Amino acid sequence: MNVPVDEGLLLSMLLKVMNAKKTLELGVFTGYSLLTTALALPADGKITAVDVDKEAYEVGLPFIQKAGVEHKINFCQSDAFTVLNDLITKVS
Ligand SMILES: C[S@@+](CC[C@H](N)C(=O)[O-])C[C@H]1O[C@@H](n2cnc3c(N)ncnc32)[C@H](O)[C@@H]1O
Repeated sequence: MNVPVDEGLLLSMLLKVMNAKKTLELGVFTGYSLLTTALALPADGKITAVDVDKEAYEVGLPFIQKAGVEHKINFCQSDAFTVLNDLITKVS
């Protein structure tokens, strides 16, 4: 269920070109696109990562830790619609 490698590379390039600092990932699975994103963001970048399935995230977590980018990730085990509703409520 992960993005293919070429899509991950495109995602990484787009994040760098737009100088992204904060991202929202809806649907993490084992975290391949999450790791790609975390590596592309600057050291103070932040990702809110949402998935109902924490077990799958924990399969990929050792690779995220090994890459030294865990501090950029705030994983929320939740339904994405709930998180989006909360975010919309906070900004409005
Ligand atoms: C295709 S996988 C994500 C792959 C990941 N973006 C990557 O490329 O490495 C889809 C994920 O979305 C999650 N998901 C599906 N519906 C969801 C929802 N309503 N809220 C949160 N997560 C959801 C599933 O649990 C699954 O892990």
